[in-house]
Amino acid sequence: MDLQKVERVYSNYAAVYDQIFGRIFHESRESAVRRLNVRQGEQILEVGVGTGLSLPLYPRHCKVVGIDLSSGMLEKARARVRAHDLEHVELARMDAGQMEFSDDTFDTIMAAYVVTAVPDYRRVVTEMIRVCRPGGRIIMLNHFSNGNKVIAAVEKVISPLCKHIGFRTDLALHHVLEGTSLLVAREEKVNPLRFWHLVECVNRKNGSGPPLHQA
Ligand SMILES: C[S@@+](CC[C@H](N)C(=O)[O-])C[C@H]1O[C@@H](n2cnc3c(N)ncnc32)[C@H](O)[C@@H]1O
Repeated sequence: MDLQKVERVYSNYAAVYDQIFGRIFHESRESAVRRLNVRQGEQILEVGVGTGLSLPLYPRHCKVVGIDLSSGMLEKARARVRAHDLEHVELARMDAGQMEFSDDTFDTIMAAYVVTAVPDYRRVVTEMIRVCRPGGRIIMLNHFSNGNKVIAAVEKVISPLCKHIGFRTDLALHHVLEGTSLLVAREEKVNPLRFWHLVECVNRKNGSGPPLHQA
């Protein structure tokens, strides 16, 4: 899918997204944010923030910037920010593959159900590494292909179909991490059906700075 198609597909989803994907994926979204153990003043970027379902979960003592390509999804996120009076949250329409932030801007980056929804995951991962400070954290909550041959065959077959509805199913974590400065500090399977992975990486770019949090 190209960027225009992603924008169109997700803007079409926006009205029903929370009903379809809200509840099913919320437990893992919640545990991903809870486990961040966010520090006072921490600068957090949520890439592909969607309708902002996770935004009310962040503590008010940090700063959260949420970006998304889809204006329809962002409109919902803006309404949520207003409804919950989230003064510590800012939203912007931006391509995660070409972000407008300076290098090393954020301590922590969260990408929930995003790397398999973007047209070019390599560009997005490269950009996340660039805008995350050395030693900062990049967290991906996602389904990753797990090497099981039977499941992988099914994922490969259904992936072209799924691309039309906004995501792919055949991406393995090692492909996402290949050649990057990311070091996996923690990985666990989470609900629904323990089919999704919560992966916390430390950004070891430039030989790395001190980790913000010990895994
Ligand atoms: C499956 S949704 C996940 C939304 C949210 N993170 C959640 O937990 O519900 C994927 C989101 O990624 C956004 N997206 C896809 N490609 C993008 C890109 N290149 N830049 C920014 N956002 C993008 C879509 O618009 C959509 O809102």
